[in-house]
Amino acid sequence: MKLALFVSGGGSNARVIIDRFQAHPEEGVEVVLLVSNKATAPALTMAAERNIPTLVIKRAEFRDTTNLLGHLENFGVDFIALAGFLWLVPAYLVNAFPDRILNIHPALLPNYGGKGMYGANVHRAVKANGELESGITIHYVNERYDEGNTVYQAATRLDPDDTPEQIAERVLRLEHGNYWRVIRGLVGG
Ligand code: GAR
Repeated sequence: MKLALFVSGGGSNARVIIDRFQAHPEEGVEVVLLVSNKATAPALTMAAERNIPTLVIKRAEFRDTTNLLGHLENFGVDFIALAGFLWLVPAYLVNAFPDRILNIHPALLPNYGGKGMYGANVHRAVKANGELESGITIHYVNERYDEGNTVYQAATRLDPDDTPEQIAERVLRLEHGNYWRVIRGLVGG
């Protein structure tokens, strides 16, 4: 599997995935490209330090042209994992990679999903509702935010005193432990 990671920010999930598969080439997943929608994303430096090619995309080009497909083809990409990527994926990209784009969402979908529900917003909403459980959802991507078929979910108990930041930490730990496993499970599929 030649994997492209799409990110918007810190890229801690991307880092874990890159490190895992660089350390275990026998597992059959090669991260060949990291795509960022932000030129200042720390993930770009992180990837470059690991000798992963990077690409910065601009909104209009991503949304209104199919130029990205040529880049993905040049790198031989056959699977995409969104790892903290905040733009809606356009139809041409979904259609070019049917059931071959995964997203990780930091909550138990269908709750706490949809437009505007990302990162800290999710954890603040979970806290505001007094939830005693949150978790992660790994799902295929379609043209609507957070609505593709679920591949994997894992839950974590919350302490009533947890702050949104502590909830984020618990959830991120689950993400780091599971996203690469789920990707590995899809090799050859
Ligand atoms: C992760 O928690 C991921 O689940 C979330 O952004 C964070 C990125 O962290 N994604 C979404 O909210 C998508 N709706 P990272 O950049 O450190 O991997």
